Amino acid sequence: MAGRKLAPSILTADFTNLGETFRLFERHPSVGYIHIDVMDGNFVPNMSLGAPIVRSIAEKSKLNFDIHLMIEEPARYVADFVTDKTEFIVVHAEAAVHLDRTLRLIKSLGVKCGVALNPATPPETLDYVFDLVDQILVMSVNPGFGGQAFIPASLDKLRALAKIREDRGLSFVLNVDGGIDRKNVLSVVEAGADIIVAGSSILNAADPEAELIAYDELFRGEII
Ligand code: DX5
Ligand code: ZN
Repeated sequence: MAGRKLAPSILTADFTNLGETFRLFERHPSVGYIHIDVMDGNFVPNMSLGAPIVRSIAEKSKLNFDIHLMIEEPARYVADFVTDKTEFIVVHAEAAVHLDRTLRLIKSLGVKCGVALNPATPPETLDYVFDLVDQILVMSVNPGFGGQAFIPASLDKLRALAKIREDRGLSFVLNVDGGIDRKNVLSVVEAGADIIVAGSSILNAADPEAELIAYDELFRGEII
């Protein structure tokens, strides 16, 4: 597997200064993608931003987007999130009744498809779509809010998915999202994560730049 990458979440960013936040991420080699959380106030008890904003901020970013749709009936909206920066569109297994159809639809739009699993959803849910997915996102908090505590059982789920990937000779990337900071990041990487989402631990840090410098060193020295 190629080197691990951070995907900072902009959920808690200052949207009036988003250009500066994007420039901050672009200065750091540990950052591979920008993670964008889309919430509908229905699948999750919170609302965030929608497709028009994603399309407009795509013009301001040099990094590609990892778009995490926490919405019901995602198939109705996936096409709206295709931009020239959209690398992954990730839907929740619990929200997509026709998951197979939804994944095929995303791929037909020319972007990579991912499935997110809530903390209580087992890997076996994906038994019949493992060969379709480009990414599996393990939620390490219950989706809806930034700043929650990491759920340790997520490590077992990452290990189980890494084993399935190896046993079946597949190449999906493993993403992990929620409650991750520099204290627990090594544990998720050791468990198999390739993409690491971190929101509040970076953007709400006293010095986000220093935090990213520390990730750059960590990723260069110990992880990759
Ligand atoms: C939670 C979102 C996360 C969130 C992560 O529902 O999916 O991406 O922004 O934020 P932290 O890193 O603060 O848990
Ligand atoms: Zn997310």
